Amino acid sequence: MEPKDRIIVALDASRLADAVNIAKDVGPNVGALKVGLEILMSEGAPQVVREISKYGKIFFDGKFKDIPNTVAGASKAATRAGSWMFNVHCLGGVPMMAKAKEASILEAKTLGITPPLVIGVTILTSFDAKTINELGFDNVRDELELKHLVVRLAQLAKQAGLDGVVASPLEIEAIRAACGNDFLIVTPGVRPLWAAANDQKRIMTPGEAVKAGANYIVIGRPITNPPKEIGTPADAVKKIVAELS
Ligand code: C5P
Repeated sequence: MEPKDRIIVALDASRLADAVNIAKDVGPNVGALKVGLEILMSEGAPQVVREISKYGKIFFDGKFKDIPNTVAGASKAATRAGSWMFNVHCLGGVPMMAKAKEASILEAKTLGITPPLVIGVTILTSFDAKTINELGFDNVRDELELKHLVVRLAQLAKQAGLDGVVASPLEIEAIRAACGNDFLIVTPGVRPLWAAANDQKRIMTPGEAVKAGANYIVIGRPITNPPKEIGTPADAVKKIVAELS
């Protein structure tokens, strides 16, 4: 894989026109463009995917979690829309994850297209051990036990037939060791040295994340709103590609 193909740009915007402007600028020079709940809910998922996919492959960050039958329907819709990758919550359970993958393969077959990659979200990085513990996970009392839970969820995602998981930089190595080399790891919380951390706490640079075992890195604000001295989103991408190279 070329270094540029590892970069997924998070297009976090509420207006399609804003996302399209950035997609135009960076699309040809990155691996994929991530559209999340904000823009999908603001502008409508099929339209967003149709417009943004003119500029690159789509990571549909819909984070599905519902009963298996409903998630299967949503997975078919994400496939039909033309997603290259979409995601579901691992906490939806193995039957739900398996159904998401199965439904996306069936829909792709019906349409004669390549099935999308289906990725599991383990535990959101906004959770710490305390937030998980108070939900009734009595065996999660500290950050190490939280990491064990993340690895267990990644193993379940693999068992369910998913292609990989989303993981914070600090979880990459443990998941890689537990799930092997064929399992995709998609990592947000990535910050080049020249960028502000914003609200991301456990960060790595693009180079560090890939060295640790990430297949793809998700980067939003450092690219969509780069520091003045860096220039445009396309300039920010160039700098990150150079670092990865
Ligand atoms: O702007 P920034 O680089 O922080 O954007 C990271 C993107 O990755 C955002 O779209 C955010 O919602 C997403 N994400 C994350 N942490 C997770 C899962 C997704 O930052 N655990």
